[in-house]
Amino acid sequence: MTRIYLDNAATSYPKPESVYTAVDDYQRHIGVAVGRGAYREATTAQRMLDQCRQSAARLLHAESPDRIVFTLNGTDSLNMALMGVCRHRDHVITTELEHNSVLRPLRWLKDYRDIDITFLRPETNGQIDPNQVRSQIRPTTRLIAVQHASNVTGVVQPIDEICAVARQANVLTLVDAAQSAGHLPIDLGQLPIDLLACPGHKGLLGPLGTGLLYIRPGVEQGMTNYRLGGTGTQSEDDRQPDAMPDRFEAGNHNAPGLAGLAAGLAYLEERTVTALQQAEAELTERLVQGLREIAGVTVYGHQLAVPSVGVVSFNIAGFAPHEAASILDDSFGIQARAGLHCAPGAHRFLGTFDNGGTIRFSVGAFTSINDIEQALASVRELTGA
Ligand SMILES: Cc1ncc(COP(=O)(O)O)c(C=O)c1O
Repeated sequence: MTRIYLDNAATSYPKPESVYTAVDDYQRHIGVAVGRGAYREATTAQRMLDQCRQSAARLLHAESPDRIVFTLNGTDSLNMALMGVCRHRDHVITTELEHNSVLRPLRWLKDYRDIDITFLRPETNGQIDPNQVRSQIRPTTRLIAVQHASNVTGVVQPIDEICAVARQANVLTLVDAAQSAGHLPIDLGQLPIDLLACPGHKGLLGPLGTGLLYIRPGVEQGMTNYRLGGTGTQSEDDRQPDAMPDRFEAGNHNAPGLAGLAAGLAYLEERTVTALQQAEAELTERLVQGLREIAGVTVYGHQLAVPSVGVVSFNIAGFAPHEAASILDDSFGIQARAGLHCAPGAHRFLGTFDNGGTIRFSVGAFTSINDIEQALASVRELTGA
């Protein structure tokens, strides 16, 4: 049975061939720690890391490569931002749709730094109203943390308007771009975003174990860092260097992973995010339309007027989400993700929480129309339609 992978929202698979080659090549022929030596391979490794940072900065239109901090994954980037920015008794505005990688650090900050959190409820179309954000800002509001796109319904938030509201009020913004980076163009030259957290292993097509955090110039001055240690620079000083990105990067990098990420970013640059967005939108449209035609299937989100990425949640009458996903895999080789997708509030909002969540199909750079047709045929067969 051929494997049809529709869980790109968890991590992208397959990766471009160049990503596999880059990781293997690094491990086999370079193999050294980055920024710690002056021999030939060390220089090659440093160049690779610099290129990766430059490509990420170019993709996001960041001011300069040193605004990009490498992390372990999206969760690590979000932790670095939230823990770094929030001080005792700050007020934070976020949404009910967030992933646990935002909700749990915020809960910790509430328990241990006494922060106050306002959770915004989306409108019926799944989007947050920027006016609601404005109305919740207080003198103590330090941060607005909002996702760019939902990992449950794919709904894209009006982050341009939300971040503009925050900027006007002198409040920092953190955007969780886990489901948008590499899928939608992101222009930090235009968007007033202060912190942007991305996994490297989803839409950016790098290997697992990679991630990045963009920090707008000056924002780092008000941030603490929980990761401290060797940087290969200013080694005589027992304080962490102030300079970016060393300020937030301590210890050895995941150099093989970053070699892969550099290749993933190069692939994106060549294919272009706009072309990919178009291809994924066509696949998603067919997927949603096909699912809606099957009796007994309920699709959540994906309303015509609301922009979305290629993440589609649905349920099949008579089947628990986990049961349906497991039959789809066992009998048809269709690999989907079922459950709450680490976003319990999103499922409460959709009314799917008590039913154990939804089944989720998510497309990626290598999903084909044939994959979508086979997935639809399998759901049809499962429902007996
Ligand atoms: C919306 C959202 N935020 C954050 C994350 C966490 O990313 P990572 O798995 O790289 O830690 C995910 C991943 O599932 C996500 O979908």
